[in-house]
This record gives sequence, C-alpha cells and structure tokens, in this order.
Amino acid sequence: MSPTDYLENIKTLNKYAHYYYVLDDPLTTDEVYDKLYHGVLAFEEENPDKVEMDSPTQRVGDIISEGFNKAPHLSRMWSLEDLFNSADLQKWLDKVAKLSDNISFYCEPKFDGASLNLIYEEGKLLQAITRGDGVIGEDITQNAKTIRSIPLKISHLQRLEIRGEVVIFKDDFERINVQRAEQGASLFANPRNAAAGSLRQLDSRITSSRNLVFLPYGLGENELDFSLLSEKMALVYKLGFRRPPLRSLAKGFDEIEEIYKQMVTEREGFDMMLDGMVIKVNQIEAQEEMGYTVKNPRWSSAYKFPAVEKITTIKDIILQVGRSGAVTPVAIVEPTPIEGVVVERASLHNFDEIDRKDIRLGDKVIILRSGDVIPKIIKVLVHERQEGSVAYIRPTQCPVCSSELLDEGALTKCQNLECSSRVVNSIIYFASKACLNIDGLGDRIVEVLYEVGLIKSVVDLYDLRLEQLLELEGFKQKKSEKIIKAISASKGKECWRFINGMGIEHIGEVASKALCENFGLDFVNVDKERLIAVDGIGEEMAESLLEFVRVNSEYIQRLQAALEPLKPAQKVEAVENPFKGKIVVLTGSMSESRGNIKAMLETLGAKVSGSVSKKTDFLIYGEDAGSKYDKAINLKVEVMTEDYMREII
Ligand code: IVH
Repeated sequence: MSPTDYLENIKTLNKYAHYYYVLDDPLTTDEVYDKLYHGVLAFEEENPDKVEMDSPTQRVGDIISEGFNKAPHLSRMWSLEDLFNSADLQKWLDKVAKLSDNISFYCEPKFDGASLNLIYEEGKLLQAITRGDGVIGEDITQNAKTIRSIPLKISHLQRLEIRGEVVIFKDDFERINVQRAEQGASLFANPRNAAAGSLRQLDSRITSSRNLVFLPYGLGENELDFSLLSEKMALVYKLGFRRPPLRSLAKGFDEIEEIYKQMVTEREGFDMMLDGMVIKVNQIEAQEEMGYTVKNPRWSSAYKFPAVEKITTIKDIILQVGRSGAVTPVAIVEPTPIEGVVVERASLHNFDEIDRKDIRLGDKVIILRSGDVIPKIIKVLVHERQEGSVAYIRPTQCPVCSSELLDEGALTKCQNLECSSRVVNSIIYFASKACLNIDGLGDRIVEVLYEVGLIKSVVDLYDLRLEQLLELEGFKQKKSEKIIKAISASKGKECWRFINGMGIEHIGEVASKALCENFGLDFVNVDKERLIAVDGIGEEMAESLLEFVRVNSEYIQRLQAALEPLKPAQKVEAVENPFKGKIVVLTGSMSESRGNIKAMLETLGAKVSGSVSKKTDFLIYGEDAGSKYDKAINLKVEVMTEDYMREII
C-alpha cells in the first residue's frame, strides 16, 4: 500500500464508520470494512511514523492508565433546573418572558447517561473531560477515543468545546449485565451507571467493548457566529456528530406541552433511556441577556418525565442482612421490562411497610420506577388477590445464621456479631469508595474469600498472599495480582477512611472526617466532653464511638498497624496559590455544598472561618449573601464571587 493509498483508505474507513455509527445507515458489510482495516493496520505496523491521528486503529484502546488526571473545562458545565409538571412549566415560561421577549424554544430529549466535554483544537480532538464539579473534571481522552460516534478530527479549526451525553443503548445494557452475571460480577443498576462506569475504566479496551454512544447537546467555548442555538447545533451535526432524535422548535406553552407528550408516549421505543425533555431558549442573544443563577442557566430547564408504572406479581420476599445486622426484605417480582430495562426486584424498606401495604406472596402489584432507583411497590391490587392467600409473617430468626432477631420497631436486627452476612457486608463496606476504596475487591470476591476461610475480618485482608489466591478456583494470575496490589494500595491513606471503614454505628463519612481533623489517630483516647465539643458530633455519636473503642480496642490497634493511616498533620504541603495561608469566610448559597467548598479551600492551605473580622483576608459569596457580606464591605475585606474564586484557583 502506498502512502497515498493509506490516506485514501483511512478516509474510506472513516466514511464507513460515520455511516454506521453516526447515521445508522451502513454503507457496506463488516467483511469489506475488516479487509480494508487490516490493510491499514499492516501499513501502520511497517510505517509507525506515518500513523494518522484519525486512523480507526487509534480507537482500539490498548492503553491502560494508572488513573485519571484532573482537567479544567474551558467554560463551566452547568446543571439544569427541573420542572415536574405543567404548572412548573408555566411558571418557568413566565419567568423567561419577564427576561426577554419574542423568543422560541429548542426542545430535545434529556438523555440519561454521563456528560462529557470534548475540546477540539485545530480540528483535532485534544481532550475529553468528564463533568466533575462543572469546573474541573477528569481527563478520559483515551477512553473517549474508543467511542466511534466521537470524531477524532473535524473540519472546524478554531478551538471548540462540544458537550454531550455518553449513553449506553438499552439492549447493550442488558447484554453487559447478562455477561456480568455470568462472570459473577456485580450488576449495573441502570444504563446511566453503566455509561459512567464504562467511561472511567483504566483499561480502555473495556470502554471500547461497551458500545458507548455520544449524543451532542450543546457547546461550551466557541466562536461560532450564529444567532440561533439550532443553527449552532446544525453545524455540530454537520461536523460528524450524531443527531439526537426528536428535536423540535416550539413557540410557547401549548407547543412545548405537545412535544413533551409525544416524547412521553414514545420514550419506551427509543434505543436509549430518556428522563425528560430539555427546553432551551433558541436565541443566543436572549440567552446571554438572561444569564445564569449559581447553578443553572436561566434560559434552559429540564421537564422531567413522570415515573413509569407497571403491574407485576410478587414471586418471593427474600431477606438481606446488612453490616449493622438490619434485616431488609426485598420483593422478587415477575421479570417486567420498564423502559427497556428488565426489573426483577422491588424494594420493601422494612417489615412495617409490608404490613402497612399488606403485601403478600402471589399478589399483583403496581411498581413504579423513576430514574435509576430500585422500583417501589406503590399499590397491591387487592381485588385480584387469590383466595386463600395469607398475610406475610415476620421472621423471628436470622435467615443467615438462625440466631434470634431483635424487633426494634422500624428495624429488625440480627444480634450476632459473627453472622456471616454481617461480616461479609462489613468487609464489602470497608472496601467501598467511601472507606478504603479498594478497587478490584468486588462483592463476589469478598464472599468467596470469606467462604473459603481466608478472611474473617477486614484485618485479614492485609495478611493475604498471592499464593493463597492462586489456589482458589477462578483466581487467575492477573486477577489475583490485581487484588493483592489494590489491598496494599489502601495502606497509608487518610485517617478518616480508617475511621469510617470500621463502620461504627452513627459515625459516617462526615463524622469520621471531623474526628480525624480534630484528634487524628488519637480519637481513641478522647473523652465524651471533648467529642461533643466538635462541630457535627452529637451525644449519640459520641456514645457509640466510646462504646466501640471500649469493646474493640485491640481490633482498632491491629487494623491501624495494618493500614498505617496518615495523620492529618502529614497532609502534603499545598502548592502556591492565592488562598494559601489566608483566612477565608464563605457566605450565601453556592453551586455545591459549603462543606465541599470549604474542603477544597483547605486543601489549598486556606483557613476557613465562620465569621468576618478584621483578620479575614477574603469573603467568598454566593447567592443571597446577607450580613456577612455587609460586614466584610464595612471592614474593607476583599470580597469575591464563587465564580471568581474558581477562576483564580
Ligand atoms: S443541556 C445549559 N441537553 O443533563 C446546558 N443536558 O441536568 C446544560 N443532559 O449535565 C445541559 N441530555 O449531562 C442538556 N439534551 C440535553 C441533555 C442534557 C442530558 C444532561 C447533561 C447535564 C444534565 C443537566
């Protein structure tokens, strides 16, 4: 193949792929494509210096990353205000009408996936960044390149940010879950989680295998000179992006309602999950006039779809025993497709709820699924109940260890600390994101390790050896090495993870952080008075902690020795930045919780104080700032908006 043929063949392959993945209109067969592809691949192997960046070979994803780097968006990624019914819509339209007149609306479905920002420069895909907090996300460019509906090259040469939603089609979602069930891996709850999880794979071959699809919905930084959003989007589609279905323009309330009703009726028929309709002011000038609140554009909103209801039958009520011993009933229902996802379970919360709704085996029930949560049973069709059905009888014994259950009203608890279900779930909790974040130690793996007797508590994780794992069925070299490596990587992490990981009753992530911040590893030696003095630690929490320390002091020592958690004083020195060493006060409502913003400033080395004084260096304010703001102005303290703070960070 000559270099000119090579370039020509890439063009042809990209055209085939565009017709296949973007236009849904294949031009040729797989066989023809594959033959051409292999020719291109052979040429590249012989001429590695001539490989084009938009060659289809660049999409296979044979790159394994260590982790993802944080990356800033060029312009902020916003959220949308939700509207739940036509009254909300009317109110929103009234607000819009006050801000601008003579406008029309661009309506399109709200896709349920993970948002992604693509930055193109000189026509090349430079970076793909997840939404993150809207200002900074994670750079997942290598993974994005495996998504065939994301062009690697476009004909627009100026810098351009294209935003869209990465989705998994419903049938691919089912396929992935069937596969995962066969492999004993945990199932994705819904296509959105599956899409988000697939984007954050360290091994981009996995991302590639998930058939993700990118649906563009807007632009960030751009220099496009059009007066209408619809014109800008038409250009985006022309550049090679997929056209989402059902886009239309509407003038006012009636037309918007009509399009909305059509979407609601047709939603089940779509390949992807939709969770509402997005309404955007089409005139760019009007958009700019209206501007933004702290969180949302004033010119756009999300009109949510109603939850979907279906009728099914209760086949069984199973019992799960959590790490605290709480026994939770779960209904197993006749498999029922809702919005293309097959539902097999419905949550029952607790036994009181079963009583209240009088839910019985064999009952026909209405289940309701909204968004991603496990469906709820909203009603029993009592008139269809079969004769001879009997009311549900609460268990008195633990379904796992048979010990007697304690009925605490809303909660029914297994009291046996050694109940295998409690132990396994507490190890799973210990390994979860909010604790030691041991990636690769999945639920099923914990179960197996417990069943074969290798681990009896979390401490045993740290004594596991590779040879022991290799002896187990299904534990191949690579998988076993990954597990050992992940466990060992959980050593030397922040001390609040260690506290949170022990699963002390009433002590969650926030309390663990507060304890760690105030006492470090010395939290075991603090008396009740000093505990309660900490912001956010109440009496019940303090007592629970003291009791836990009293009963488990040896265990705490062993775990601490295994984990070697960092003391808060060992925090890494903050890099140079305008907030380092400054006293900062926050006021007003911000785009995320103040706790998060406080934590962010603290990692930058700032001290965040609750009240304004002469010593305050900066006051950062959000919407509806009140007296602190006035005081800061009086004391001539420098004030800045949240947006400005983010800019200078
Ligand atoms: S527009 C101002 N359009 O929904 C622009 N968002 O709640 C903000 N989403 O983060 C977004 N489909 O991930 C827009 N057609 C659509 C969308 C859409 C899904 C997601 C997106 C965004 C979130 C906002």
